[in-house]
Amino acid sequence: MAKLKADKISFKYSGNNKLILKDLSISLKDNQVKGLVGESGSGKSTICKILAAYEDNFQGKIQVDGLSTNSKFNPIQLIFQHPEKTMNPKWKMKQSLEESWSADNDILEKFGIKESWLNRWPNELSGGELQRFSIIRALNPKTRFIIADEITTGLDAVTQVQIWQLLLSIAKERKMGILVVSHDKPLINEICDEVVYLNDINNV
Ligand SMILES: Nc1ncnc2c1ncn2[C@@H]1O[C@H](COP(=O)(O)OP(=O)(O)O)[C@@H](O)[C@H]1O
Ligand SMILES: [Mg+2]
Repeated sequence: MAKLKADKISFKYSGNNKLILKDLSISLKDNQVKGLVGESGSGKSTICKILAAYEDNFQGKIQVDGLSTNSKFNPIQLIFQHPEKTMNPKWKMKQSLEESWSADNDILEKFGIKESWLNRWPNELSGGELQRFSIIRALNPKTRFIIADEITTGLDAVTQVQIWQLLLSIAKERKMGILVVSHDKPLINEICDEVVYLNDINNV
């Protein structure tokens, strides 16, 4: 059974003296869908970025199965709220997709990705369509844990349900753990096995 463990994480942004996170510990098992909730500005996205190695100037340690995650491919993958900010605007979708792994047709079909979309620029797709691409990008076969930071916030209800059903079924199939960051309480209650409040684990 795989386990992600973040132990006593403390962090402040450079040039800023205020600690955003202090001695924060959180863990996630494979197959587990854990919710993380908290007020706006409380540091949810910050811990997400740290877990997925987008920030490295922190104290504490992050391990998967007792090992530090400094390999070439990070088994902890982050999906952001705004996919348009993470896609290179000068790349067609095909190139953005292939940067991570060669997604098979099966998964493209599952996510309703039309072949013609692969030849489009990111700004020629809707937010929901773009988010499906960024989810597939995160689903490299080596991914063990997904950090989902408000990934369906701002999408319409139907798209939101579709995206979560797909992601949850793939996670189950591959025994991946998911950390679901959202302020949407009904969503969290519906899909999570367990909910953690950031303020309860952050000792600032
Ligand atoms: N790059 C940054 N540099 C400095 N401060 C930041 C940066 N990003 C976020 N912050 C600050 O860190 C705090 C936590 O932000 P964030 O983790 O985005 O909160 P949340 O996701 O819970 O809304 C906020 O006060 C925010 O202004
Ligand atoms: Mg946030």
